[in-house]
Amino acid sequence: MDKIRIVGGNELKGTIPISGAKNAALPLMIASLLTEEKLILENVPRLADVALLQRILGNHGVDITTNGKRNGDDPYAGQTLEIDARVIVDTTAPYDLVSRMRASFWVLGPLLARIGVAKVSLPGGCAIGTRPVDFHLDALRALGAEIEIDAGYVVAKAPHGLKGARIVFPKVSVGATHTALMAATLARGDSIIENAAREPEVVDLADCLIKMGARISGAGSSTIHVEGVARLKAARHAVLPDRIETGTYAMATAMTGGDVMLAGARPDLLESALDALRQAGAEIDATNEGIRVRRNGAGILPVDVTTAPYPGFPTDLQAQFMALMTKAKGNSRITETIFENRFMHVQELARLGARIHLEGDSAVVEGVERLTGAPVMATDLRASVSLVIAGLAAEGETMVQRVYHLDRGFEKLEEKLSRCGAQIERISG
Ligand code: EPU
Repeated sequence: MDKIRIVGGNELKGTIPISGAKNAALPLMIASLLTEEKLILENVPRLADVALLQRILGNHGVDITTNGKRNGDDPYAGQTLEIDARVIVDTTAPYDLVSRMRASFWVLGPLLARIGVAKVSLPGGCAIGTRPVDFHLDALRALGAEIEIDAGYVVAKAPHGLKGARIVFPKVSVGATHTALMAATLARGDSIIENAAREPEVVDLADCLIKMGARISGAGSSTIHVEGVARLKAARHAVLPDRIETGTYAMATAMTGGDVMLAGARPDLLESALDALRQAGAEIDATNEGIRVRRNGAGILPVDVTTAPYPGFPTDLQAQFMALMTKAKGNSRITETIFENRFMHVQELARLGARIHLEGDSAVVEGVERLTGAPVMATDLRASVSLVIAGLAAEGETMVQRVYHLDRGFEKLEEKLSRCGAQIERISG
């Protein structure tokens, strides 16, 4: 298994190109199941999760062509996928694939809406919390689906098609909003989705569906209206920039000090995280090129944050912000309200010398003068990258194990950081 070796202490200086968002690319690829015509997606990041979803869609009979790179192309440019779901040969998503990536469960809504049947494995356990799928199933039931659970599989039918309905989510869920939105586009009649997720990735999905001929209004607010249509058509759409990758590198720069341009990043996608960074002492400027992040001699100030659905502070940046706070001048409190078990990085950060103790759903971080390198590992993507950030600011060598977590969500991580002066390399093993 590959490892990442970091020797900390260097400031970051230079430009980091921001990739297309993983969490937008995945639902957009799944939306291809809604039409017999071709969906062309641009700016798709090259990530293990994208490759795995290509396999999962391939299993349903979807044909995906990836446009190859030509000499002289920007090595950081995203890929273009041409996705053709004209023939669906299999409406089953098996356990061995769905258990490897939870988002693949989202094929349920589109398959049901277009074909009228789907059998999708329940995703199973997850390192960051229990993550049930009840909201997805309740939304599809509201749209008229008949759903049973059989031998670990969700077996869903809508023999006469789905019917528009009012769907009220008890709690904000990104994935269940994607499911409801995709299914409602092909339902007969009108749907209203209330307490919908307002995340930019939901808006990106809605924008693409609208290009495909869907009638949707209100995406980005908590009430989304969908007027069902009989069929969707071909479209071309570019994936929006990754706000979590942006926030991660902004936090890395705030932690090491230096001056980095996050090229292609959009500040409007992560205002709450940028505010927290400003309070911590980073200088953040929006420019035509992207977001410029700087921190000079001044130390890191402690800042309390609480994760919340968009536009609140994202849970997917909680671990990275905690890494930053480990070197703050004072105590900070970080509260996680989305997932009940998303503090797996705490014990690993402690191995680098961080002082953190847990109080229920909060972590109290007592800033220390210095961190020291150590071998560390993590159980999920965002926790892993928080260890990379801490390693960049630690004295000596940090070896991050289980790099496959990072490959799920960060394109060319070590290249992007070493271009800015970090001492970081992948060791194949
Ligand atoms: N929930 C339920 N029932 C459901 C669905 C969700 O109780 O049927 C609960 C969850 O257990 C959680 C909360 O609702 O407590 C919110 O979960 P949500 O459904 O919003 O999460 P998700 O759609 O499964 C996406 C991202 C996550 C990100 C969360 C929250 C993708 C592929 N995943 O997951 O990203 O943390 O939204 O913003 O978009 C990551 O990229 O590392 C990652 C975990």
